[in-house]
Amino acid sequence: MSQPINTICVIGAGTMGSGIAQVAAQNGFYTLLFDINSEVLEKGRVSIQKNLQWLVDKQKISAAEKEIIFQRIQFITDTNDCLADVIIEAIVEKIEAKVSILNQLAEVNHAEVIFATNTSSLSVSEIQKGVDHPERVVGMHFFNPAPLMKLVEVVKGDQTSEEAAASIYGLCKQMNKTPVMCKDAPGFIVNRVARHYYLEAMKLVESGIATIEDVDAVMEATGFKMGPFKLMDLIGMDINLAVSTSLYEAFDKEERFKPSPLQVDKVAKGELGKKAGKGFYEYN
Ligand SMILES: NC(=O)c1ccc[n+]([C@@H]2O[C@H](COP(=O)([O-])OP(=O)(O)OC[C@H]3O[C@@H](n4cnc5c(N)ncnc54)[C@H](O)[C@@H]3O)[C@@H](O)[C@H]2O)c1
Repeated sequence: MSQPINTICVIGAGTMGSGIAQVAAQNGFYTLLFDINSEVLEKGRVSIQKNLQWLVDKQKISAAEKEIIFQRIQFITDTNDCLADVIIEAIVEKIEAKVSILNQLAEVNHAEVIFATNTSSLSVSEIQKGVDHPERVVGMHFFNPAPLMKLVEVVKGDQTSEEAAASIYGLCKQMNKTPVMCKDAPGFIVNRVARHYYLEAMKLVESGIATIEDVDAVMEATGFKMGPFKLMDLIGMDINLAVSTSLYEAFDKEERFKPSPLQVDKVAKGELGKKAGKGFYEYN
């Protein structure tokens, strides 16, 4: 078996990265949270503090535990400080950016470090082609919000070693998550199945059959935790469009995967959802 995991470095302190860092620290890992943008890093720090305080208020953890968890996280902006047993990458959904940061981190880390990517729509096999020692690259797809959602898809690319995949699977369990192993394929499992939850909902609205509010209300009344429009706002319109586009391309422009003009328009206007204060709904 592979070596024990003590330190986790999360790259990217946005929506997903800050949540993943919180989960790592809550489960006892010494955690580094890195971002190139110090403002985003500060936002991530505030959001983790807020989430932990919420747990204190709900009496899930004590105030003392909150402090211990928070002290486990170091907020950093220098790649030279990104030294860990596992790197979890959660930066922009662009293959060149992901390959570039992983190669920079390969230079400062030992050769056995595992590179986990939180990509939701890129091919793990494509990412690993550009990285030194591609066998250590594994998909580790968390769901939003990472501290609350139990599922993690552990994705094996063409060159991923059994050891690296097993290490990440085990790490998910240590992080109190429910891992599911799958092979690299467009959308993995969840995004492939859920794509139509979003796309069909947008088609209904585009064609004037129902309003955004009605579609959400109906789906919630049938048992879904969140209607598709609220969920898209939470995910981020840009991220969700990137997933739609990549599935559409991967399936040779099959009509059923075609991105909706509604989401394209939202991204063009910068109405990216909750993180931007406005998406399909408005947020204060
Ligand atoms: N938003 C979701 O619901 C969701 C769910 C699962 C997976 N993902 C995936 O997680 C990743 C991040 O998504 P997000 O929603 O957190 O995005 P985000 O835009 O909230 O955050 C991305 C962060 O990456 C930082 N960044 C960009 N380039 C960087 C670099 N070279 N080095 C370090 N930091 C860099 C940015 O400053 C930003 O803080 C994407 O791959 C996305 O597909 C997103």
